[in-house]
Amino acid sequence: MLDALEVVRYRSFVSDVIGKGCVMTKYSNLQIWLHWIIFVLVAFQFLFHEPIAQAFDLRLEGKEFTQSVLIPLHLVFGGVVFLLVVVRLWVRVTEGVPPYPKQDAVVLKLISTVVHWSFYALLLLLPITGGAAWFQGSEGAGNAHEALRGVLLILILLHVVASLVHYFLLKSNLFKRMWWG
Ligand code: HEM
Ligand code: HEM
Repeated sequence: MLDALEVVRYRSFVSDVIGKGCVMTKYSNLQIWLHWIIFVLVAFQFLFHEPIAQAFDLRLEGKEFTQSVLIPLHLVFGGVVFLLVVVRLWVRVTEGVPPYPKQDAVVLKLISTVVHWSFYALLLLLPITGGAAWFQGSEGAGNAHEALRGVLLILILLHVVASLVHYFLLKSNLFKRMWWG
């Protein structure tokens, strides 16, 4: 399976060698902007979820809830995340991504591939379940939304730990590949 995934990842390698005569060594500026804008929006969703969570519970019970600007912001920012992830996937397909460091163990590459694709899936499913919960008044979709954000949080922690392991233990500064300059 890894071979197939690596083929996708090495697409950039081949196209760059043929097209520009050099190997892609980091993410493009557009990919970097998208990564960090999505990060800020997702952080906002986690930090300021309380008003929508309370409003949703009250709505399910048929009770009035206090309006807060954080409620429409949660809906809008979540929708923007969905759109940006679609753009990000498109850019990934057209531009490719830098190959993994050669020295990385196969198991690390496999975990990283699974985590990255899970991010894309979760960031598409969260707005869909959130939308179904809010606009359809579906308790099931609300539960799914809550479960998915738990999985997303665990993967974010894993992702940050992986960055630190690469920097401190494996001595490969992957962070630079996802930062400007
Ligand atoms: C990447 C996008 C999103 C993230 C990371 C996110 C995150 C969260 C979090 C952390 C909560 C609190 C869950 C809890 O009670 O512990 C929540 C609740 C909620 N969100 Fe989102 N959300 C996103 C997108 C959306 C969108 C687009 C909508 C609607 C259009 C939405 C609607 C809701 C609703 C109705 C709740 C309350 C239901 C519940 O507590 O599960 N969310 N969201
Ligand atoms: C909402 C939180 C985050 C999400 C959803 C996320 C998602 C992703 C995804 C999907 C990729 C893979 C890009 C691809 O190849 O298609 C990636 C790469 C990367 N992320 Fe994050 N990320 C988040 C937060 C962070 C944070 C806080 C850091 C800093 C420690 C970070 C550092 C990196 C680095 C260094 C890479 C490039 C890895 C490589 O060179 O192969 N990310 N991220």
